Amino acid sequence: MHDEIKKLLKNEKILSQDVINQIGNIDADEFSAIVKDLGKKETQHIKASEISKEQSTTYIGEKLYVYDEVGSTNTIAKFLSMQDDENGTVIISEKQTKGKGRTGKDWESPLGGIWLSIIIKPDADQSKLPLITLATGVAVAKALEKIGVENPEIKWPNDIMINGRKVCGILTESVSKLDKIENVIIGVGIDANIESSQLPDELQKITTTIKDELGRECDENLLIRIFLEEFEQINELFNHENYEKILKEWRKRSYSIGKKVEVRKPFDTPFDAYVIGINEEGTLIVEKFDGTLEKVISGECIIKN
Ligand code: BTN
Repeated sequence: MHDEIKKLLKNEKILSQDVINQIGNIDADEFSAIVKDLGKKETQHIKASEISKEQSTTYIGEKLYVYDEVGSTNTIAKFLSMQDDENGTVIISEKQTKGKGRTGKDWESPLGGIWLSIIIKPDADQSKLPLITLATGVAVAKALEKIGVENPEIKWPNDIMINGRKVCGILTESVSKLDKIENVIIGVGIDANIESSQLPDELQKITTTIKDELGRECDENLLIRIFLEEFEQINELFNHENYEKILKEWRKRSYSIGKKVEVRKPFDTPFDAYVIGINEEGTLIVEKFDGTLEKVISGECIIKN
């Protein structure tokens, strides 16, 4: 049974009850127990003992599942989040075979990167979801600063950039009931100890890696530990509705504000505009060339020169 589930974890982007049924007659609880059991304490690069050393967080990463290879950590996290007691659970994998990016894109996840997902269960309305995503971007940027990366910036909504190239992407997925957030899965992918040359050609022009930027490998476990600490702190700001402080930290590191962009909203014709800032809900405000202001809640902003 373990082997079949292992195979499934590597190959699936979506874990539904139907998929689980394919491997036999087990229910979701039993399946979760096996999934957790397959999560190790150590892989070649990722060591739970290093990450939780000094016990610097209280609930984020209290439960930590580390895998050699899975399809997508977000998929596993989404599945485990259906259980009540998983607030703060972290899933990490050394490699992903079906890594998911924003807007339905695939996410390249070779060995050497940091591929993790955090489950949180905030007591907040769905309208506050963008702020969680922005907060995660701030936590990544602060963690990078602490390991010696100079001037990491955040491109709206949450790409982390170094010298104008993307080093980290964040994919937030959520389940809400009657406008109340039930579960949030925050997937973070950091191109850490990868050489850009390992990435596909089309990515090499627009991405960078921590190894390339620092000129040496970074300590992945230390970076994960610092990130989880930063994340817990900023998540507490969120839980205490201290939204203005999160926004201030985001604005301080913004790569987007003041830039000319092409706005691509879902189901809308793209248009050019200048980025003015973000409002208190975490929505991007842009000014079109005719002077009208427009809110951008989701979609992409391509920076133009
Ligand atoms: C983006 O497109 O910028 C978001 C990329 C998010 C990638 C991370 S890696 C860990 C987690 N698991 C996934 O399948 N995706 C996210």
